[in-house]
Amino acid sequence: MRGALMTQVGADDLEIIDDLETIPVGPNQVRVKIEATGVCHSDLSGLKGVIPGMVPQILGHEGAGIVEEVGEGVTRCAVGDHVIVAWSPPCGKCSMCVKHRSPHLCVMIQFSAGATPNFTRDGNPIWGFAGVGTFAEQVVMAQEAAVVIGKDVPLDIASLIGCGVTTGVGAAINTADVTPGSNVVVFGCGGVGMSVIQGARIAGAAEIVAVDLNEAKLEDAKRLGATHAVTPGGLDALKAEITGGDGFDFAFEAIGIPAVMRQAYDAIRRGGTCCIVGVGKADQFLQISAFELFFNEKTLIGSYYGSADVNVDFQRLLNLWKNGRLDLEGMISSRIGIDDVNDALHAVERGEVIRQVITF
Ligand code: APR
Ligand code: ZN
Repeated sequence: MRGALMTQVGADDLEIIDDLETIPVGPNQVRVKIEATGVCHSDLSGLKGVIPGMVPQILGHEGAGIVEEVGEGVTRCAVGDHVIVAWSPPCGKCSMCVKHRSPHLCVMIQFSAGATPNFTRDGNPIWGFAGVGTFAEQVVMAQEAAVVIGKDVPLDIASLIGCGVTTGVGAAINTADVTPGSNVVVFGCGGVGMSVIQGARIAGAAEIVAVDLNEAKLEDAKRLGATHAVTPGGLDALKAEITGGDGFDFAFEAIGIPAVMRQAYDAIRRGGTCCIVGVGKADQFLQISAFELFFNEKTLIGSYYGSADVNVDFQRLLNLWKNGRLDLEGMISSRIGIDDVNDALHAVERGEVIRQVITF
């Protein structure tokens, strides 16, 4: 089968190959035919080594498809079911799942799946990004990673929920818990930032300011729910106008750059909430002084996979979409083939797109 192979960390391009094979389906595993997969900044971060992973590797983690084969002991889905791929599903048994009731923080499945090859080529092992690897026609994954949805949902729309939409909308409505009538600033208008904007709109924020370096993104941000949209240089004036200089109630960083995380922290008022959604490198640091954290009583909070329980929130997001409250069609910048994946990654690097969706 076809797939896009990462042979080296830091490479410019993936290699499009047609002799990729999945591993055999083992107990509690399923084989999913991937119908659609979004190209997320995290795939680029995997390629560049910002997010660590094994090589050779098949990138891709924002996917949806159809179950083609189930292994022994599989109870969660059946052949023919339509599924969204969850790149970090809860095991349902560990302390994060049970004792701490935080299924999104369970890493049991992702860590074991991430360390086990999902594919082979000429008999040699190939790993999948985050234990999946959706830049391939088929993927064998843990049954928990295949979350069943209705057959009425187009799979390109569904794929977006597998990562960017859940991450972004979830950051707004789950992690930061944006309140009705509040004011919000969102740094970065890619698929994740646009989803934060939509989440803030759904939560009832009065003002939503989108900030992006790329001016072409600003109109799109307004279309998806921002009330104001500016390049970084325009933020101070808007902050003064909207908040009387106090600062915003909520700020979200959806890029992954420490300097912008600091801008987000500085943009909020005393007592405000700064939510970090973007993923930076493990050896990069965000500086907060030991005095200011106390003095300003700001909440600085990370958001992992939108603090979402994929078994509940995927359907919750689909319900919002079905009822016209969440615009998923409007998030798709283009539909492309797997041969176009390198152009797509370069477009992400240039900050030009919301979401490009590969369909097989
Ligand atoms: N200031 C403002 N905007 C910026 C800046 C900056 N310094 N640098 C980049 N941007 C904008 C880009 O123009 C682009 O529109 O941020 C946006 C980032 O969008 P994408 O690259 O499409 O990223 P996305 O897929 O949305 O992911 C964002 O969330 O899940 C994480 O790993 C992911 O860290 C990444 C982040
Ligand atoms: Zn992603």
